Amino acid sequence: ELSPEERAFQERIDRGEKIEPKEWMPEGYRKTLIRQVGQHAHSEIVGQLPEGNWITRAPTLERKAILLAKVQDEAGHGLYLYCAAETLGVSRDQLLAKLHDGSMKYSSIFNYPTLNWADIGAVGWLVDGAAIMNQVQLQKTSYGPYSRAMIRICKEESFHQRQGYDIMMKMAQGTAEQKAMAQDALDRFWYPALMMFGPSDKDSVHSAQSMAWKIKINTNDELRQKFVDQTVPQAEYLGLKIPDPNLKWNEEKKGYDFSEPDWSEFFEVIAGNGPCNKERLGARVKAWEDGAWFRDGLLAHAEKAEARRAA
Ligand code: ACO
Repeated sequence: ELSPEERAFQERIDRGEKIEPKEWMPEGYRKTLIRQVGQHAHSEIVGQLPEGNWITRAPTLERKAILLAKVQDEAGHGLYLYCAAETLGVSRDQLLAKLHDGSMKYSSIFNYPTLNWADIGAVGWLVDGAAIMNQVQLQKTSYGPYSRAMIRICKEESFHQRQGYDIMMKMAQGTAEQKAMAQDALDRFWYPALMMFGPSDKDSVHSAQSMAWKIKINTNDELRQKFVDQTVPQAEYLGLKIPDPNLKWNEEKKGYDFSEPDWSEFFEVIAGNGPCNKERLGARVKAWEDGAWFRDGLLAHAEKAEARRAA
């Protein structure tokens, strides 16, 4: 039942061609990309909040400089992604309005609090680790501007993951109290990190179509499995314990068996009822409102300059 244009489009995708902004694309493809790239952009800028909280409390000057650079990188990622979304015919203001009124999502993970310095280690190690696992495959996504944004973002994310693991190493090799803090951070962030990959495949509404269009390259469960397999040895090296009594190497599948996260918690969090949803969205809305005078000023200046040119 595909139209001739749709068939030709699918053939281009199947051949591995990239789709560029001015080219014909099915409306569903455009809509799906705006949703995914827009939500991805929102995640980057909301993701600055839990870590930004700790810049003034970093334990050393060096840690502070590193964290500052990382949080700035996240702002940059948001900008690349908003630009990629804009090439699909939606403005940044429209996307932000949808974030602010709650009709667009951002990653569930950023609705959890960062309670202490060990959490900054766990966020870099696990959250950025999960983000890279997802984003590496998105470098091969079919939409040109999105795929190119991912290449640069992945390079920066690897630095973020390493800085987090480095904090965890220091804590795990520190005093008994520091090691306990590292374990506690792992205990709290493990399942929320697993939820970042989205619902299990049987509940993923968009996966089948998104994979046919190569907007997504892997399923949610495939990436979650890869993340667990990669992370377990890293936890062992730290001498920390993954908080899952069912975690067990499965020789047949050459991967770990593990417990699913509590999916009812996930659906509550993405419905707006997680521990920090109100705080995070409130901070973004306040930043937008506080910046109104600046946007008004820019606009007034642009209008005056335009009038002078016309005169
Ligand atoms: N947090 C919030 N919402 C989520 C999450 C999550 N972790 N996982 C899934 N959802 C939402 C989906 O957006 C969708 O809701 P919607 O229809 O209202 O948009 C719904 O749950 C059903 O899920 P899926 O059908 O599996 O959705 P999708 O095919 O979009 O897969 C995924 C979700 C894997 C997150 C995909 O969108 C993706 O790869 N996005 C790009 C990566 C990204 O956004 N990363 C941000 C976090 S990390 C960071 O970089 C800071």
